[in-house]
Amino acid sequence: MSLLEVKDITHSYGASFSFWRKKEVKPVLSGVSLSIEEGTCLGLLGSSGAGKSTLGKVILGLEKPQKGQVIFQGQDLYAMDARSRQQMRRNLQVVFQDSYSSVNPRLTAEKIIAEPLENYEKLSSTEQKRAIANLLEQVGLSNGDMKKYPREFSGGQLQRINIARALALKPKMIVLDESVSSLDMVTQTTILNLLQDLKTMHGLSYLFITHDIRATALYRPCQLYDQFWCGFFFLYIFTNGVGIVFDTGAIWELLSLHPSQLTGIMSFPW
Ligand SMILES: Nc1ncnc2c1ncn2[C@@H]1O[C@H](COP(=O)(O)OP(=O)(O)OP(=O)(O)O)[C@@H](O)[C@H]1O
Ligand SMILES: [Mg+2]
Repeated sequence: MSLLEVKDITHSYGASFSFWRKKEVKPVLSGVSLSIEEGTCLGLLGSSGAGKSTLGKVILGLEKPQKGQVIFQGQDLYAMDARSRQQMRRNLQVVFQDSYSSVNPRLTAEKIIAEPLENYEKLSSTEQKRAIANLLEQVGLSNGDMKKYPREFSGGQLQRINIARALALKPKMIVLDESVSSLDMVTQTTILNLLQDLKTMHGLSYLFITHDIRATALYRPCQLYDQFWCGFFFLYIFTNGVGIVFDTGAIWELLSLHPSQLTGIMSFPW
């Protein structure tokens, strides 16, 4: 049984411009199905507006689809009550693109990482401090960072805090929605390596959402990044709300091209 099974998801957003005009419906997802096995990473590549984040929200239980099912750990997310879904969510975490807007600027790193622990686990203050120190260490930060505020971190360091928060409840899967897209290339590489290490360490599954095939290709010479891509179960290219599965071989061919050659490919539908 797969860790996550997404079955035939169809979803539209309704936009009403004014009360006398007909409600306009915007179809976003159309019969999307995919599955993610335990300990694997599925890459989801598509242009801006293709519906990647919408699918991410559907998977996270945040946007009820009009049609289809999300089965996580054998249970249908939208067939359960809100309370059970919230419990299920501890195993299904997310890291977004914008590290700064993902955190409360008035909280220290310690308080940010403590949030999920306080919501779901009843730890003593000593246990909680120890857990936070351990999470900071796992993401390459130190105890000395606990009392710092978001403004005192770089974008990459703050994304590490977001990753630590996502790891706090020992989830089975993390949705990485453009989690490295706003970082410079060197920082992207280090965060990708960190994600790869954490995946191995905890047997995590990832849904890795990105619009950026150019950056991917730029990293082609970097061994560590290659390993990350090797970790992909398969790559799912998204266009007009319909996913097409590419096997790893096809994406390797794409990645072996020089970035300048990708210009033509970028005019492909995605
Ligand atoms: N809450 C919403 N209400 C109405 N339309 C929405 C809503 N959220 C997204 N959309 C529309 O749905 C389409 C898909 O959006 P989505 O955010 O899923 O795209 P995306 O592939 O994640 O894009 P990006 O790469 O820019 O993040 C877009 O046209 C967007 O404008
Ligand atoms: Mg998006």
